Amino acid sequence: MQDANGKVARLTVDDNEIELPMYEGSEGPMVIDVGKLTSLGYFTYDPGFVSTAACDSEITYIDGNAGVLLHRGYPIEQLAEQSDYLELAYLLLNGELPDATQKAGFVETIKRYTMVHDQLRFLFRGFRRDAHPMAIMCGVVGALSAFYHDSLNIDDAEHRRVTAHRLIAKMPTLAAMSYKYSRGEPFIYPRNDLHHAENFLHMMFATPCEEYRVSPVLARAMDRIFLLHADHEQNASTSTVRLAGSTGANPFACIAAGIAALWGPAHGGANEAVLNMLDLIGDEKNIDKYVKKAKDRNDPFRLMGFGHRVYKNYDPRAKVMQQTCHEVLEELGVEDNPELRMAQRLEKIALEDEFFVEKRLYPNVDFYSGIILKAIGIPVEMFTVIFAIGRTPGWIAHWNEMISGPYRLGRPRQLYHGPTRRDYVPLGERSPA
Ligand code: SDX
Repeated sequence: MQDANGKVARLTVDDNEIELPMYEGSEGPMVIDVGKLTSLGYFTYDPGFVSTAACDSEITYIDGNAGVLLHRGYPIEQLAEQSDYLELAYLLLNGELPDATQKAGFVETIKRYTMVHDQLRFLFRGFRRDAHPMAIMCGVVGALSAFYHDSLNIDDAEHRRVTAHRLIAKMPTLAAMSYKYSRGEPFIYPRNDLHHAENFLHMMFATPCEEYRVSPVLARAMDRIFLLHADHEQNASTSTVRLAGSTGANPFACIAAGIAALWGPAHGGANEAVLNMLDLIGDEKNIDKYVKKAKDRNDPFRLMGFGHRVYKNYDPRAKVMQQTCHEVLEELGVEDNPELRMAQRLEKIALEDEFFVEKRLYPNVDFYSGIILKAIGIPVEMFTVIFAIGRTPGWIAHWNEMISGPYRLGRPRQLYHGPTRRDYVPLGERSPA
């Protein structure tokens, strides 16, 4: 950690002046180390961690005001244009772009881990066929720790490496299995002659009855979507993975915790919620009514896919996603897509409305992704599962970054408002409520 050249923050409390050390990173705001406040009898108070840096990291940097997203220093726009999902996964895990040999070796390694233990298929049978695939993913990913005892020593760098590869490789397989299970169709095994995203779409849509060829257009779009979701600093699900990891829990359990956190509509569940919102709005003539509802603080309706804790400018991923949306729909010959038309109209109205301008609410990564996923043929209930596949390299890179260095158990405190000390009242002496 780089100190700020001896710069300190001075805090005056009850006529006492406290000096707090400050540190600076390579990018972004400096931080004030408040660790010693506890010894002085104080806690900091920051519900939602709006102003709290919970860790040091070298993986991803976001400038929310400028709409900048860098993965190990590389801008997301350049990665989306020139890289691919597995190369970005390598970058997130290892810190540098691979050379041709390293890339080929990594791709081959991931391919060789795509199959899951065949016993896992019986775990699916415990779910109802109409179970939400995110419920299945929470269960089966956590269950991986029951199958891979040979790589659970979190203090062993080789175990951590193998586990990272297993998770990146097996998430698409388990996701496709949860989809097939919901349709009552047989599971399709991964194939080593297919590229990662192509393999996933093959496992999703092929059947044993005939040869299935994945459209290169859709495979490229799928890879782009995985890439755009790969990591995003200390978001809620990544912070969940870190907190679970800080207890020493095995990595499969930590990633399962991340999947559970991602599911919420305020986070990764927003992509599914955007399509449900567009369906609810139903027609462009209703947009004004729903924008009005979104602006009414007494109305729980929000524009899903809009707003972000960090981005107070356009989410750079949303721009790439919108561009990909046009490319995919055009190449599929469905560019006159009613949902895309509705989304673009909704975006235009919102971005011109002073409520959204004043609150700096812009489209985020989830606003357009669902339209592409639907065009690819992915059902709405699988959208957040797709997000979880994409985010796995980010989750495991952050977990590994923490576990491979010094870390402490994460254990926040609170501002207590409950009853002060009182004595127990025996049942017979209690007055009726
Ligand atoms: C992701 O953190 C990450 O990095 C996440 C993510 C990643 O890659 O990991 O980027 C992925 O989760 C993207 C966000 C997906 N969620 C949504 O699209 C759901 C809709 N958006 C909101 O619920 C909201 O914008 C949040 C949850 C995303 C952010 O909320 P904050 O930072 O807690 O801000 P807030 O809820 O306090 O909103 C500030 C104001 C409020 O009004 P006031 O109380 O000040 O009057 O803006 C309003 C909110 O009511 N507001 C919205 C709104 N989002 C915020 N009003 C209408 N529609 C919205 N979408």
